[in-house]
Amino acid sequence: MDTTSLIGKELAAAINADTKQRAAARTEAGSAPRLALVIANDDPASAWYVKSLNRAAERNGIVCENVDLGVEATAEEIRAKLAELSADATVDAIMLQTPLPKGVGLDDVSLSIAAAKDVDGVSPLSLGLLASGLPGFPPATSEAVVELAKFHGIALEGRHVAVVGRSNVVGKPLTQLLLAENATVTVAHSRTRDLPAITSAADIVVAAVGRAGLITADHVREGAVVIDVGTNEDDNGNITGDVNAESVTGVAGALSPVPGGVGPVTTALLMRHVVQAAENANH
Ligand SMILES: NC(=O)c1ccc[n+]([C@@H]2O[C@H](COP(=O)([O-])OP(=O)(O)OC[C@H]3O[C@@H](n4cnc5c(N)ncnc54)[C@H](OP(=O)(O)O)[C@@H]3O)[C@@H](O)[C@H]2O)c1
Repeated sequence: MDTTSLIGKELAAAINADTKQRAAARTEAGSAPRLALVIANDDPASAWYVKSLNRAAERNGIVCENVDLGVEATAEEIRAKLAELSADATVDAIMLQTPLPKGVGLDDVSLSIAAAKDVDGVSPLSLGLLASGLPGFPPATSEAVVELAKFHGIALEGRHVAVVGRSNVVGKPLTQLLLAENATVTVAHSRTRDLPAITSAADIVVAAVGRAGLITADHVREGAVVIDVGTNEDDNGNITGDVNAESVTGVAGALSPVPGGVGPVTTALLMRHVVQAAENANH
């Protein structure tokens, strides 16, 4: 069987073209959309991500400000800065970078981000809004899975989707988005018994685990769609997914590549959220 590659580049370009136009309209009206990145680590992967977000913002006409609190920042200091940025009318959007300093919990501090500015949907409040079907920002990665599927003409309504992973940042919000699309969702995790049997029953398998190559041909039934959210760094510094692409190719009907699948769409959606937050604030 031929396995179609669910490439994210074209979709990301279309989203960015729209975002750029909307950002330019805001700038012309007198206030460029403004994103604050709050950092409290010296992690190289986070530094790389911050750089790529800065570049993406610049390309889209969004002002991006890095607010570095240092690795010694306390939960109280982080909460205070997030509350200050939430109250600042010149800031449209806030993203808190992980990892956080030792002992600081994401759920705890992220509650200080105003929901209207939580463009990556990290706070428990945003997850609750999403679960309730109320307006808010879903985490961009989980939204990217849904958008990538739709862009490639993959129907979700009535389909059985197996989501492997139940984190607050990917698995759980993705489950909510898929339910909103009228999919039937099974969520698997580290305590799931007989993962291959669960995933092989699904029309669509989404891997959001953080274990390189976990999903093989044994986990996928002939013709199923496989979307790989995983980003794992191998010994040579290359990024690989949670799906063993070599094993699954020829069995799956479609597979999203890593890199180049979910990743570029995620960044594009984040930038779209920033502009959306600015439009909603309409200051
Ligand atoms: N492309 C992007 O833009 C993007 C953004 C965010 C994350 N990611 C990537 O997505 C992956 C998941 O991220 P995350 O933050 O959700 O990770 P996480 O918080 O570590 O959660 C991993 C999930 O996978 C489950 N799991 C672990 N081992 C398993 C196994 N052997 N079988 C079945 N389930 C297993 C865990 O189960 P338990 O709940 O039982 O522990 C947990 O629910 C990572 O590779 C991450 O780098 C990519």
